[in-house]
Amino acid sequence: MNVMTAAVLKAARPLPRDFGEVERLQVSRKGTANFVTVADRRTEKTLREELQKARPAFGFLMEEGGEIVGKDPEHRWVIDPIDGTTNFIHAIPYFCISVALEKIIAPGKSEILAAVIYDPIHNEMFTAEKGQGAYVNDKKLAVSRRDDFSEALFGTGSPRFGSPNYDLSNRMLHTVREKAAGIRFCGAAALDLAYVAAGRFDGYWHTGLQRWDMAAGMLLIQEAGGVVSSIHADENPLDSGTVCAANRLLHPALLNMLRVPKAAA
Ligand code: IPD
Ligand code: CA
Repeated sequence: MNVMTAAVLKAARPLPRDFGEVERLQVSRKGTANFVTVADRRTEKTLREELQKARPAFGFLMEEGGEIVGKDPEHRWVIDPIDGTTNFIHAIPYFCISVALEKIIAPGKSEILAAVIYDPIHNEMFTAEKGQGAYVNDKKLAVSRRDDFSEALFGTGSPRFGSPNYDLSNRMLHTVREKAAGIRFCGAAALDLAYVAAGRFDGYWHTGLQRWDMAAGMLLIQEAGGVVSSIHADENPLDSGTVCAANRLLHPALLNMLRVPKAAA
């Protein structure tokens, strides 16, 4: 955990200044996408260098750099250097660095041993180690205790227009929207999952995600007492790319609702 948080803090150090620059650039016509791409790559490079220094044999799976197989085939870092890139580009202060340590047990079978999600703008460091609970900074996390669906607030995100999950995702949205107190599309899946662990969202779902969007957030929620599953089958969300997460009381109802629109399609 010390290795992970030190690497994340070092990688995050320039981000508030970058964010300030992006805010300033909103009024220029040049746009900020290239600037943010540079920040994204630099963040990933620092994370890779720092983690490699501390654990030279471990492999990597990174959003920008892809997979690097390590000498130790059992351990790899799963990294999203900036989750919530579109928010960053638009100077919306909701994005994070996400790092998970994955242990490969057998081909197609793995577990997440440790997780760090860091929101540099609000200085919130979410951490979890398997079996040791989840924390934000020094505070222990617990998922919400809300059990009435009509009072529950859910986070989600939409796959891009034209992607295979797009229509299905809209049907899911309508189904849950009718029954819940509210839905938020905040734009950073990893941070959204950390918000479920913190009890801020009562639940979350998404289709079409990547491993690095989910790996750290899943462990945070489990360690905070919540339930995380895939949506359509009994498989690992990391493999299916679909995730349904909530507190224990609401998870069965949320999962049922998310499954209905596929049957009706
Ligand atoms: C995206 C965000 C977003 C989710 C997208 C992801 P990125 O990651 O997590 O919330 O809806 O599916 O691709 O591109 O900002 O790292
Ligand atoms: Ca992402």
